[in-house]
Amino acid sequence: MKPATPPPPTDPARRRWMALSCGLGAVGGVAATIPLAGSLLPPEHLRHPPPLRVDLAALAPGQKLSLTWLGQPLWVVHRTPQQVAALSNPALLARLADPQSQRPGSITPTGARNATRSLLPQWLVVVGVCTHLGCTPLDRLTPGAGTGLPPDWPGGFLCPCHGSTFDLAGRVFRDQPAPDNLAVPAHRFASATELILGEDTPAQAA
Ligand code: FES
Repeated sequence: MKPATPPPPTDPARRRWMALSCGLGAVGGVAATIPLAGSLLPPEHLRHPPPLRVDLAALAPGQKLSLTWLGQPLWVVHRTPQQVAALSNPALLARLADPQSQRPGSITPTGARNATRSLLPQWLVVVGVCTHLGCTPLDRLTPGAGTGLPPDWPGGFLCPCHGSTFDLAGRVFRDQPAPDNLAVPAHRFASATELILGEDTPAQAA
């Protein structure tokens, strides 16, 4: 069967397709260096994605794991208690375009539409594809000024293509080229350190 061509990256349908596609793939090497990401696997391969188990037991607080899943970068960040607490800082929330992931284009499972944008507060699970034109943002996890970052940078990610910035919950800052937060894929946790990608249990984080 001829593979279907996905719609343009900024189309909400394209972003939904990207989130679904995150239900497939193999664990790969380090990401964050891929300038343009995207998969052209046919949608029929995405209808019944096999779950992918990822053992996070060795990922220490403050560390990030990068996978390649279905040709797309997928990130898991083990946020520290301080990082988790900072996500609810009113000064930060005021700078975000969609702090509660309520926009129609925001790909966020129901169970992750919360203050940490996650099923478990310490774990950020997000697709490393900028919602502007599909570049892969760079890690800028440490707070503080830097090239392309404001002096009061709280830590997060910087897209090198057009300068969009995202916080440690993958939430896009206001007035950026990127229209939406980074996508959160369907996933659940079998335990505190066992991530299962491709299975969605929204009630888990209620
Ligand atoms: S692709 Fe990320 S800001 Fe344009």
